[in-house]
Amino acid sequence: MRVRNARQILLFCAAVAILGQTLDAHFVEELDESFKDNRKNSIWLVDFYAPWCAHCRRLEPVWNEVGLEMRKLQSPVKVGKMDATSYTSIASEFGVRGYPTIKLLKNDLAYNYRGPRTKDDIIEFAHRVSGALIRPLPSQQMFEHVKKRHRVLFLYVGGESPLKEKYIEVASELIVYTYFFSASEEVIPEYVTLNEMPAVLVFKDETYFVYDEYEDGDLKSWVNRERFQSYLTVDGFTLYELTDTGKLIIIAVIDGKNATIEHTRMKEFVQEVAKDYRNRFHRRDFQFGHIDGTDYVNNMLMEELNVPTVVIINTSNHQYYLPTRHIETLEDVMQFINDILDGTIEGRGGDGILQRLKRIFYDIRTTVVSVFRSSPFLGCFLFGLPLGVISIMCYGIYTADTDVAYTEERIEVSKTEIETRDENNEEEKKEENNENSLVLSDAEQEPKDIMEKKND
Ligand SMILES: *[C@@H]1O[C@H](CO)[C@@H](O)[C@H](O)[C@H]1NC(C)=O
Ligand SMILES: *[C@@H]1O[C@H](CO)[C@@H](O)[C@H](O)[C@H]1NC(C)=O
Repeated sequence: MRVRNARQILLFCAAVAILGQTLDAHFVEELDESFKDNRKNSIWLVDFYAPWCAHCRRLEPVWNEVGLEMRKLQSPVKVGKMDATSYTSIASEFGVRGYPTIKLLKNDLAYNYRGPRTKDDIIEFAHRVSGALIRPLPSQQMFEHVKKRHRVLFLYVGGESPLKEKYIEVASELIVYTYFFSASEEVIPEYVTLNEMPAVLVFKDETYFVYDEYEDGDLKSWVNRERFQSYLTVDGFTLYELTDTGKLIIIAVIDGKNATIEHTRMKEFVQEVAKDYRNRFHRRDFQFGHIDGTDYVNNMLMEELNVPTVVIINTSNHQYYLPTRHIETLEDVMQFINDILDGTIEGRGGDGILQRLKRIFYDIRTTVVSVFRSSPFLGCFLFGLPLGVISIMCYGIYTADTDVAYTEERIEVSKTEIETRDENNEEEKKEENNENSLVLSDAEQEPKDIMEKKND
């Protein structure tokens, strides 16, 4: 019975694969070794995939559309894809560690795409990163136009200066997240007061803030903190990015499909508090928002939350807080935040070793459960087969203890196989947090492992 199923599934997969290939759009180039030399004179948007990875197959039709659309728009960016399992050395040179990995390659730099895998988001990313690093705004009309289009807008005001050099440097890294503009003093609106020139500003939340080197620290971390609006609709990607900011995140966790008043009200409470905090407290230390659905939050906190609720996460030490009693009013939310600021409520989680162990076990459990849930057959194959092999080997050890070394080696192999599979299944998007290859460092990666989210 199982065997017959297996054969049917394999046949089906083969059929799908062949069909997929024949329908392949012609605007995506399949890349090989020659890419290493050929890429030099162009900007490339590349999907590094693995033939067996489900997320890659899901991306494929989107990728074909991206190729088609970029061609239609006469974009200078070429769209390609590379089987990273066949050209492993090229893939590792570009720092590909999971599948699929989307990168924009421009000169010597490789920019990683980490947003939602939709055509529009990917194309927007390609335009932003392939275009000018700093976009000049020559007139007030232009400024107003751009300001309408961007909820968060960074602007350098002034001529050449060391600050501008710094700004360019920051932009070359953080262009993966946001746009950077520049203008002369005449262009900025009258309501903006600048004590000093040159200056860097951010326009958002219906106001503006000026970067102050002495108060705000280095420009890069300031931009990283300021690139979010004070209240956000959070998705899995944003949630993960926020864990980088060191802020206290106050987030309503709701079920968007649940029409009962409790859910919308919880969101409104947090919105209200966000408005209030903008004036009362050091706004930079707080991030407000709501998230629809519990998947990401549960995964991050390793808890099963009852929605609607409010969760507060201290992204400096990765501790989190849950309300000690039911939240009924706006005051309850205020009280909850104040209790944390006072230190009245104990934080959970954190960066400790126990937390790391808990994370490992939690991940193994969720991966096994999700693989079995989405495809019991694959589950049996992935986890059952190595287990079976190991059992047979153990049996072998008991019955004939001659070949122990050989057996151990084999067990090692199956174990690593499982690990690699797991990793790849998890769709690494979020793991390589600072994926921008040029800023990658292991030290920065470390804490992120704890707050990591898995999509599968
Ligand atoms: C909606 O949320 C309430 C709790 O606020 C819960 O009791 C109810 O079961 C939910 N309804 C659905 C359809 O999930
Ligand atoms: C968040 O964590 C940092 C680092 O441990 C700590 O200094 C800060 O007081 C914490 N914030 C709150 C509100 O607990």
